[in-house]
Amino acid sequence: MAATRPNSSAAARQRLYINIDHVATIRQARRTDEPDPLEAALVCERAGADGITAHLREDRRHIQDDDVERIAGAVTTLLNLEMGCTDEMVATALRLKPYQVTLVPERREEVTTEGGLDVVREAKRLAPALAKMRDAGIRTSLFIAPDDAAVRQSRELGVDAIELHTGAYSHAPKSPATLAALRTASTLGASLGLAVHAGHGLTIRNVAPVAAIPEIEELNIGHSIISRAVFVGLDAAVREMRAAMDAARASR
Ligand code: PXP
Repeated sequence: MAATRPNSSAAARQRLYINIDHVATIRQARRTDEPDPLEAALVCERAGADGITAHLREDRRHIQDDDVERIAGAVTTLLNLEMGCTDEMVATALRLKPYQVTLVPERREEVTTEGGLDVVREAKRLAPALAKMRDAGIRTSLFIAPDDAAVRQSRELGVDAIELHTGAYSHAPKSPATLAALRTASTLGASLGLAVHAGHGLTIRNVAPVAAIPEIEELNIGHSIISRAVFVGLDAAVREMRAAMDAARASR
């Protein structure tokens, strides 16, 4: 049985999930025990995050197995586990039973998740993994480009949600085409009954037009919030992003 949605109404407050990977990136730079991504997750929750996102990468460059274990056991909001579609990661998800799994493409040499999943070509590989997670009651989401075929194929795969890759928009926020693609894919996804999420490269300066897209229920934001936290602290950085999202929603 699929997990129930926290809010399915487009009018509801847009959820902010904070990706705390880069707290672990700083720790891994010295292979020490600080800063602790779990402590960061708890600060984010107190500052108003609706959920915590962590990406356990195959190469363990930032988040480690022990981090996700501890975070899964301690978050008081909801955990969104980002992962590649591998047997090892599916086994981890089935053991930890996060609220939500977002499947992402992973290439070892990439600096970050560079593109969306090729859901059309990879449908046969994704389907059994998604079925296992659905059977375990885990909400499922696919990180895809804002592209008609990818949205439709995601619906065919029976996922609860799609997360639209906002990277093209973030690199060219002034280009009407990149925002239009997000709007069109959001409308299509919602019309097909999918929950629509979005993320990648969003910052306090570029978030407003994406936050204002009515069908987008949830944003996943990491790097810019952790970067801003260096100067103003994590609590303030989360609150600033929350305020920017709320202002964009209010002025629609
Ligand atoms: N969503 C997904 C699926 C991601 O892979 C990432 C990056 O880890 C993000 C959102 C957050 O992107 P950023 O760190 O650029 O805010």
